[in-house]
Amino acid sequence: MRRSFRNVATLFVWLLMVALTDAHAADAPHLAQRGAAVQLVVDGKPFLMLAGELGNSTGSDIATLDSHWERLRALNLNTVLSPVYWELLEPQEGRFDFRHVDGLIAGARRNNMKVVLLWFGAWKNSQSSYVPAWVKRDSARFPRARRATGEPLELLTPFGAATLDADRKAFAALMAHLRLTDARDRTVLMVQVENEIGMIPEARDHSDLANTAFDAPVPEALLQALFARGDKLALPLRHLWQVQGARRSGSWRDVFGASAATDEIFMAWYFGRYVEHVASAGHAEYPLPMFVNAALARPGRAPGEYPSAGPLAQVFDVWKAAAPSIDFLAPDIYFPNFTEIARTYSFTDNPLFIPETGRQPLATPANAFYAIGAHGAIGFSPFAIEDYAADDPLGKAYALLDELSPLILQHQAAGSIYGVRSLVDYGGAVDATPQVLNGGGAYTLTVALIDPFTPQEAQKPEQHGGLILKLAEDEYLVAGTGLTVTFAVSDGRGKAGIESVTEGAYRNGVWVPGRRLNGDENHQGRHLRIPAGMFQIQRVKLYRY
Ligand code: DGJ
Repeated sequence: MRRSFRNVATLFVWLLMVALTDAHAADAPHLAQRGAAVQLVVDGKPFLMLAGELGNSTGSDIATLDSHWERLRALNLNTVLSPVYWELLEPQEGRFDFRHVDGLIAGARRNNMKVVLLWFGAWKNSQSSYVPAWVKRDSARFPRARRATGEPLELLTPFGAATLDADRKAFAALMAHLRLTDARDRTVLMVQVENEIGMIPEARDHSDLANTAFDAPVPEALLQALFARGDKLALPLRHLWQVQGARRSGSWRDVFGASAATDEIFMAWYFGRYVEHVASAGHAEYPLPMFVNAALARPGRAPGEYPSAGPLAQVFDVWKAAAPSIDFLAPDIYFPNFTEIARTYSFTDNPLFIPETGRQPLATPANAFYAIGAHGAIGFSPFAIEDYAADDPLGKAYALLDELSPLILQHQAAGSIYGVRSLVDYGGAVDATPQVLNGGGAYTLTVALIDPFTPQEAQKPEQHGGLILKLAEDEYLVAGTGLTVTFAVSDGRGKAGIESVTEGAYRNGVWVPGRRLNGDENHQGRHLRIPAGMFQIQRVKLYRY
């Protein structure tokens, strides 16, 4: 009798725990359309990720990782991106070891940071080096991609059913573990599924399984999705399809023609389907936002010379159709043409998040301001963040973005935020033409990225950038570095004058004014200026005369 009472009590406690976990999971971090922006919502409030990604091996040893928290704090990060390594998570099939994940999350909590996990599963940078040994050693069960010559690659084919099954189960186990251990605290915000997927050194896999799929009809689901896109279909894809007569059925060669571009479309679909199965299995356990990241292609290179079929612009439509459980496609930006790439990855249904970007001292802050201001980015994350010096300018930029973040998020939603930085092309040529902002307001702002009081030879306009918030019809906030702003009335009736410029800071969301900037600091009322190398917030009030 007593025993059965104990059983009932245990069952009750267990049910209560499950119910509580469910209640917490129901409010898991998620993406939501808020006015003009898609934002990440955490604990019911929008959240701006001022992040950095750890080097690949740092998270594989908790003692090593623990030695870096102080540096991450000094850089004012609020979020850290770190891999979860399949080889360490499931060293033996079906036996999971969550110590690395738990150690990472515990460290983040101690340091008041959030985490974005990167699932290094079947693929990491077009290779399969992170799969467990029991997968690596069993090519019969987990077949490899092959070159046209038949040579096997250190890259698993996405057509291997057992590979997908094993990857999916491991990912689902990870997400189930997160639900149990983190649904209440919500330290983990999002998960990247695999890492920089792509086929290299050929545009497509030539294993027997891949060849069979390539000769089979193009799946109806893809054709329907492409057809539904109509005019919105990306041009190269639309062109390939139309040249072949916009066919609604046929083999990959029939529908898109025989070319490396077709090979890339084919692989994008099957990589995308694979990812969909992994992501949806994880999502069913714990529904965090999920994304994939892209290794970008150098201009003029053919698919296979770069990782073919990753989530790149020419196959965005294919990825979106293949993997609906993936919330967005994200660029790893290591090329200088940051503004162009950020624009490409910021489109309807695809909020901008930059999981990785290169280490360019002083240009990195300008990119952060630009992405958040011009494209409503939900986050920004330089790679190998633990290697940044504690006093790197990125830390100053993050401090400023952090104090401004409630206001930034509000203005992203309202559509009253701008981002500025000089344009740099792929070859590194800088166009620092002043940028004109109006947005339909009474005043037009012209932002110069050449600092008027810095000698010509010391100018570095590629490092200057910032964001601007329209606080009221006659009031703007400018934050960043190396910016000089002049003002005009938009309707041409009269002139714009500066009533006042004030520098200051936001403490707990409240504006705390500092110096009134006049005289030499605003060129006797002619402009607002944040000198190069300084990171400041200034508010300006305007009037008409
Ligand atoms: C891009 C990858 O996604 C990262 O994991 C890392 O390998 C960097 N390249 C550069 O080292």
